[in-house]
Amino acid sequence: MVTSPILLDYQSSTPCLKEVVESMNPYWTENFANPSSKSNLANINASAVLEVSRERVQTYLKLKNRRVIFTSGATESNNLALIGFARNFNKRTGKYGHIITLKTEHQAVLEPLRKLKKEGYTVTEIEPEKNGLLSKQKFIEAIKPETFLVSIMLANNEIGVIQPLQWIYSICKSKGIVLHTDAAQCIGYIPMKDLDSIANMITFSSHKIYGPKGIGILVIDEEIELDPLFVGGGQEFGLRSGTIPLPLIVGFTKAIEIAIRNTKENAEKLAFHRDNLLKGLTENISLLEVNGSMYERLPHNLNITFPKVNGALLHKRLKPKIICSSGSACSNGKPSHVLLALGKSLKEAESSIRLSIGLMTSSDDIDTTISEISYLVKTIR
Ligand SMILES: Cc1ncc(COP(=O)(O)O)c(C=O)c1O
Repeated sequence: MVTSPILLDYQSSTPCLKEVVESMNPYWTENFANPSSKSNLANINASAVLEVSRERVQTYLKLKNRRVIFTSGATESNNLALIGFARNFNKRTGKYGHIITLKTEHQAVLEPLRKLKKEGYTVTEIEPEKNGLLSKQKFIEAIKPETFLVSIMLANNEIGVIQPLQWIYSICKSKGIVLHTDAAQCIGYIPMKDLDSIANMITFSSHKIYGPKGIGILVIDEEIELDPLFVGGGQEFGLRSGTIPLPLIVGFTKAIEIAIRNTKENAEKLAFHRDNLLKGLTENISLLEVNGSMYERLPHNLNITFPKVNGALLHKRLKPKIICSSGSACSNGKPSHVLLALGKSLKEAESSIRLSIGLMTSSDDIDTTISEISYLVKTIR
């Protein structure tokens, strides 16, 4: 009998929940009107659905005095926040200022910043501590008089660590620096109770939280000015031209509602499986290293290095049994820049895996994963 591999890669993407699909259904077929056109009743109704969705997002995420901009995903939200704010800053001040970020950010932050560097801005990529967290001292030392923008992710997609945004935000505020955070991996996994005190601009993605792909959000303070990345019909406050994907917005809004409602229960379930997985692997495998702090961490993430194991062989043999990630889903098979930034060697980074638990993961999946990985590591060694 051929058994399908166990999926432990839910940080790459999640399936849409049934309730989410059902919420979208009418907007593909009978209610397909364009929310931006006011030419008939159907369009006016579509526009009302868009604005109700926006208000619901504000309510579920408890946002005050914030603008919710729908985008195509976290990649676009990050690009809009960083490039849009930097170019607007340059237009207002005539200066190319200084931007701070972390070496362990997602490429969807690092690449826009590298692009800005080519345009004349200066960028500091701070090295995190060994546990993946930002050091207060290093952060304060990195700030220059010309620093105008900081981007530090809320939770890391590879090692799951949760950055201390409260103090980062209060330092930024005290110096008049705008803070952006990539929170693509967070809704439904950690409490979203105080978003107004974590950053001026926040990125979210739908397909990491059991919503549809191709939709994201950028939340910004009302007074933040951004230059749009592309222009045209002027949708989304002139910040994101293009016909509004209403079915995706309705689905994402539903996914947020469900995720927020179930955060505590889901986080406990995910952490229970994750902790059992770690316990089982630790009991069976000697010389195992967990990457990233286990205290400030997403409940569904585990990232482990197996020293003295040929990484290529490990991943090849794991493939038919367990679907997991060797780095980030977007790293195109290159060794993880996150693990390298934590001080891992190329070899160690290659013999590391990210296991991410999902709502569909069972105790049987965890038990099988423990025995498969333990067996493989022992035989390869
Ligand atoms: C932290 C983080 N930022 C950004 C992205 C890109 O998100 P999207 O697929 O919504 O563009 C991802 C997806 O892997 C992510 O994990």
